[in-house]
Amino acid sequence: MTGDHRTNLIQIGLGPWGTDWATKILPRLPDAHVTGWVDASPDARTAFVAATGADPGTVFATVEEALEATGAVAAIAPVAIGAHVAVARQVLQAGAHLLLEKPFALDAATARELADLAAERGLVFGIDQNYRIFPGVPIVRELLERGAVGTIRRVSLEWHRIHQGVRDSNALIELAIHHFDLMRHLFGREGVAITCVPVTPVRSAQDRTPGASLIVELDGGITIDYVLSSQGVDAQTPWPGVWRISGDDGLLRWGAAPDDHRAVSITDGDGNVTPVEVPELPLFERAGVLRAFIDAVAGTGAPTSPAADNARSVAMLEAALTSARTGERTRVERW
Ligand SMILES: NC(=O)c1ccc[n+]([C@@H]2O[C@H](COP(=O)([O-])OP(=O)(O)OC[C@H]3O[C@@H](n4cnc5c(N)ncnc54)[C@H](O)[C@@H]3O)[C@@H](O)[C@H]2O)c1
Repeated sequence: MTGDHRTNLIQIGLGPWGTDWATKILPRLPDAHVTGWVDASPDARTAFVAATGADPGTVFATVEEALEATGAVAAIAPVAIGAHVAVARQVLQAGAHLLLEKPFALDAATARELADLAAERGLVFGIDQNYRIFPGVPIVRELLERGAVGTIRRVSLEWHRIHQGVRDSNALIELAIHHFDLMRHLFGREGVAITCVPVTPVRSAQDRTPGASLIVELDGGITIDYVLSSQGVDAQTPWPGVWRISGDDGLLRWGAAPDDHRAVSITDGDGNVTPVEVPELPLFERAGVLRAFIDAVAGTGAPTSPAADNARSVAMLEAALTSARTGERTRVERW
């Protein structure tokens, strides 16, 4: 579907990422029609109006005011992480469809409860897990599905970028959620257990840490060595990371430093490297996520990461946070 009629939306969260959504992503989908903008902070509202030229009469302090004034049927929410759960509850209870930024929640029970609330009310509820919409993703998934490297023996994932937003945050919450979700998506397997050694102590979700070393176990005996790093001199990986998937018949690589997310190749047992063609996607990352959400609201298809599915990625984040706190290998909750 190309979107031939407009969907009336509100956007909740007008900080740096919300401004980026408004100026770079929304203009690409003219049928995603935002009629109200919401932020709890007066300073953020003022800065947003200055940055985007939004009509101040369309900018609100609360979700309720915005929904009532605009009659919007759906919300996109690039809102502060600490507000995700409360905002999700508010929007869904008000009967509006929701596209929420990652991480959906910090524990699987809350994620499930909110996904159930949306299901009970017949609402579309998607999570912006936008790394799924990189052009390499469907290619790598397809190669793995058809067993291109044979029985998988070893997997490593490295992410390294000097990025202030990540360095000054809890990198597990900000970033690892993307990689946990990609692990599930690429291999089509669920998390079993996670052992996480953060760079600095993480006793609660409020503690920051610039990175971590993790061992991630998936169903079927797949173990991933995963390094998440925002310090030290090294070449920048692309945002989805550099993946090496080694099997009996070959080595599949996806991503290369510096910053090449389209590099995919297979190396055979004799060392011959075959590059794999990676076509562009019609809509890249967030624009693709938003397209699928708008279409789902209009009754066609499903969001790229339905909340009910994403709850299983949240379960992996929860296990990583527990392991970071306790120092123990931690089972991923399953249901
Ligand atoms: N998908 C990605 O690749 C990606 C990249 C960057 C950021 N993000 C996500 O985007 C979101 C926003 O990021 P940011 O850096 O702009 O965050 P931020 O912490 O600056 O917060 C954004 C805004 O939320 C507002 N806010 C807080 N509580 C609110 C509430 N209850 N109601 C309304 N507004 C409220 C704040 O006033 C702030 O202006 C986060 O969830 C972050 O994880 C995603």
